[in-house]
Amino acid sequence: MKTIFSGIQPSGSVTLGNYIGALKQFVELQDEYNCYFCIVDQHAITVPQDRLALRKNIRSLAALYIAVGIDPKKATLFIQSEVPAHAQAGWMMQCLAYIGELERMTQFKDKSKGKDAVSAGLLTYPPLMAADILLYQSDLVPVGDDQKQHLEITRDLAERFNKKYNDIFTIPEIRIPKVGARIMSLAEPTKKMSKSDPNTKGFITLLDEPKQIEKKIKSAVTDSEGIVKYDKENKPGISNLLSIYSNLNNESVEDIEARYAGKGYGDFKADVADVIIHTLAPIQEKYHQLMNSTLLDDILDEGAAKANAQANKMLKKMENAMGLGRKRK
Ligand code: AQP
Repeated sequence: MKTIFSGIQPSGSVTLGNYIGALKQFVELQDEYNCYFCIVDQHAITVPQDRLALRKNIRSLAALYIAVGIDPKKATLFIQSEVPAHAQAGWMMQCLAYIGELERMTQFKDKSKGKDAVSAGLLTYPPLMAADILLYQSDLVPVGDDQKQHLEITRDLAERFNKKYNDIFTIPEIRIPKVGARIMSLAEPTKKMSKSDPNTKGFITLLDEPKQIEKKIKSAVTDSEGIVKYDKENKPGISNLLSIYSNLNNESVEDIEARYAGKGYGDFKADVADVIIHTLAPIQEKYHQLMNSTLLDDILDEGAAKANAQANKMLKKMENAMGLGRKRK
């Protein structure tokens, strides 16, 4: 059975972008693959986090993984910082990565722009991500479009390691959804929807109430043409809403366009909000049940034990290949 690894940062409340780009794919793939799904809290601290909010977001993200349909009997769900091999392997990958290639990463440039103090961790985020993926000999990494560049550097680092030390790593492939690979901000549709966006009107979280969803979709930035048509270049707002609708309703963009021919944005937006509300209602119900139970800790304990066992095996191989410590079997 082939293996999948993917992670989400507990850097805020999970958005519809994270759901469409990542979580929904995870659920679709869990029957066919040996899956490791991670709450990447060590990635989250590459930018400042409030400790209590981080703790809350970690637990909330764990509950959301299960609430969207991840079955802990099929997939291993765990918290990155509870598997120390990630940080250890991450260091080895940092020593393999070049500063120049890390400085070229779009996420690093975006997140460091205009900041007085930028953590070294923000620069070395990709080698840690490479370690996350390579420790599990992952064949496939389902992510949103924004992570493409990080996947490319992961592949480069794996190949570099295999060539320089020993041929131990599987080279992972990327999997991006066909529709909705990059959900855009509702307030600025040329910018990616992000959970850490200070403008809360830009994103919908999986826990937003129906009224909030209606309000945010109603105020989503569109254009003055009044035609529901996909045109990313000239109509980024409407195109974004069409992608959301199409992905959540499993319906082609063309069919949706045809249904709204001659109708205004008001009807269309009301229906987009409705589709989102209906998608999120069962997720929210399950989420609240889980947050009020002890089941979550049992799942995370079991996940950490399984992930540690697998990751430690690979870590030893990496240390042996690099000549660290004493040779161990
Ligand atoms: N807007 C998006 N559209 C589609 N997919 C998205 N993803 C993120 N935003 C979108 C995918 O969600 C997964 C988890 O992302 P992450 O938490 O590891 O970091 P990120 O990509 O930086 O996501 P955010 O929401 O923008 O977080 P912050 O604001 O903390 O930086 C990934 O598979 C990602 O592709």
